[in-house]
Amino acid sequence: MHPMLTIAVKAARKAGVIINRSCLELEKIKVSCKGPKNYVTEIDQLAEKAIVEILKESYPSHSFLGEEFGNYGSSKSDFLWIIDPIDGTTNFIHGFPNYAVSIALSFKDKIIQAVIYDPSRDELFTASRGSGAFLNNRRIRVSKQNILQYSLLGMHCSTFSKNDVENKFNILADECTAVRRMGSTVIDLAYVACGRLDGFCGINLKPWDLAAGSLIVTEAGGLVSDYFGEQEWMNSGNIIAATPKIFSKILNKLNN
Ligand code: IPD
Ligand code: CA
Ligand code: CA
Repeated sequence: MHPMLTIAVKAARKAGVIINRSCLELEKIKVSCKGPKNYVTEIDQLAEKAIVEILKESYPSHSFLGEEFGNYGSSKSDFLWIIDPIDGTTNFIHGFPNYAVSIALSFKDKIIQAVIYDPSRDELFTASRGSGAFLNNRRIRVSKQNILQYSLLGMHCSTFSKNDVENKFNILADECTAVRRMGSTVIDLAYVACGRLDGFCGINLKPWDLAAGSLIVTEAGGLVSDYFGEQEWMNSGNIIAATPKIFSKILNKLNN
């Protein structure tokens, strides 16, 4: 394993211990609201601090971007760690075991290392650019599905919006076998990478929701783009990730 990935795994597992310990006494966790339907707990904050502490110990000159505390460290470094300490906080608060820690390292705006750790299932998804993707150290690949009608897709969109793209999501949902909206984009992306989902579409997501998962999907043989087939998904927050054949079918549906 690449030494930088080893450190990222150590940080993700440390956060996992904090999360697992706290979910034994969920009712004691302090929850606050960051905005409409957007919650944060003291555990999100504790986990992010623990992750950054471990990363900083090895890489004190790097930059850090975490969901909860924003930017830390040098603003001049070409290395940027992008962290979501708990993706799926709403699930976590409800004891619904579908949430994960996400840590990615970018170098000059390219993601080069990625870890997604699901502490409820003890599943560790990892990738280093050019070296493939792994689940608990075993190589993973996207599914071989090539028929949209037989595919299982993950989606993230807001429920009541009349957004044009979301209307197209509904059309897509009608065509595939089924859609799952399980509340953790990083797990959805990890599941595309290991073939549990054949594709994923999301709208209005943040860099820390997408950074690690995007590399794990592409290293597993999948494709990632925005809705126009361009690589602007980090800026727009709109993403398609899928096995190659399903990817082109989704892109086609969203653009016609
Ligand atoms: C949320 C999850 C969820 C997505 C939301 C995100 P958080 O992240 O990624 O899948 O639907 O838009 O905000 O807040 O639980 O880290
Ligand atoms: Ca998130
Ligand atoms: Ca989060």
